[in-house]
Amino acid sequence: MTGLQPQYILVTGATGFIGAHVVDELLRRGIRVRGATRSLAKGEAMIQARPEYAASLDFVQIKDFATPGPLDHAVEGIDAVIHVASPLTYDTTDNEKELIIPAINGVRSVLEASQRSKTVRRVVMTSSFASVMNADRKGPPYFEYTGGDWNPLTYQESIAPTTPAHIAYRGAKKFAEQAAWDFVREQKPGFDLVTLCPSMTFGPIVHPISNLDQLNESNAMLWKVAQGLPLGTARVPSWIDVRDLALAHVEALLRPDAGGKRYIPGGTERFTYDWAASIMEEEFDWAKNKVQHQEQKVDDSYGFDGVTTAKDLGIKYTSFHTTVKDLITQLKGMHEALQESSPEALP
Ligand SMILES: NC(=O)c1ccc[n+]([C@@H]2O[C@H](COP(=O)([O-])OP(=O)(O)OC[C@H]3O[C@@H](n4cnc5c(N)ncnc54)[C@H](OP(=O)(O)O)[C@@H]3O)[C@@H](O)[C@H]2O)c1
Repeated sequence: MTGLQPQYILVTGATGFIGAHVVDELLRRGIRVRGATRSLAKGEAMIQARPEYAASLDFVQIKDFATPGPLDHAVEGIDAVIHVASPLTYDTTDNEKELIIPAINGVRSVLEASQRSKTVRRVVMTSSFASVMNADRKGPPYFEYTGGDWNPLTYQESIAPTTPAHIAYRGAKKFAEQAAWDFVREQKPGFDLVTLCPSMTFGPIVHPISNLDQLNESNAMLWKVAQGLPLGTARVPSWIDVRDLALAHVEALLRPDAGGKRYIPGGTERFTYDWAASIMEEEFDWAKNKVQHQEQKVDDSYGFDGVTTAKDLGIKYTSFHTTVKDLITQLKGMHEALQESSPEALP
């Protein structure tokens, strides 16, 4: 992509945790946004929550990527696409049908429509550190992952009925991202590609949810800590604040030199849920006799190159302390407001 400022961006997954932050970052910069959603009611809720941007934000309905239709209507008049949408759930009965095929189909539908559009100049895609990291690798020695690394999972391993959903998810992200790079290499479309491979993403929410059961998977783990429930175990100790990640998406869209790059955004801090519990006790009186503790070891046998993202895209990473404090302040406020409006609906 040349240095031309794109005017109108399609964001898929715009009603989700990360996508809604991307939408807001674009709108704040005066860039018009079209969100894609399977449910226009969710899109309407996003618009109603942002009355000041009503003229700059619209939504288009797309089919579930499990049975995708053409997305030509979604990319009509669009200069660039930020493709965030992908199924992110560990509650599956058929990993291939529910996670892997929809993830790959989503990428192909977006790229094929973008190619036909002739107006799309860049596609930024949300992949995941799950597509980078080899979960079976044992350190020491210390290893630093870069944008050149891929997890070694095969397609057959990912779809096997005995494979747990969190491992199938790693396959879904890898094969969907590889489908995107293959498409660009083979088809040589009129756009370039940037992919972002973040780890666990936490932080305040800006997408519409009507109760805290609808929280996205990663934030739900921190909310469980605040509720005094037993601590979960972090599958990876790396993480990023959702606001930093949204900024990285938009900078990846706007900076000409980002084209063709694969970034791993994130700082060097490693988190545990036990550390999150300590932060909550430090920040909130109500958490002092509530949160649980458990000794949790941090795997520091590997890290990743988050410095290249910071340098190329101009990101300063938020601290885990700030992220936990900001998220839990928001969720506690939402919980209290919901309790006041319908006390019987909440524990
Ligand atoms: N959260 C994390 O910790 C994390 C970490 C690394 C990477 N990621 C990646 O970041 C992206 C967004 O994650 P998120 O946490 O924002 O998830 P999210 O809150 O679940 O949002 C994902 C959005 O994608 C859309 N979507 C989901 N399944 C779909 C399907 N089968 N067909 C069409 N659209 C579908 C949904 O929009 P509608 O319901 O409006 O259609 C949903 O709002 C995903 O690609 C995920 O793999 C997330």
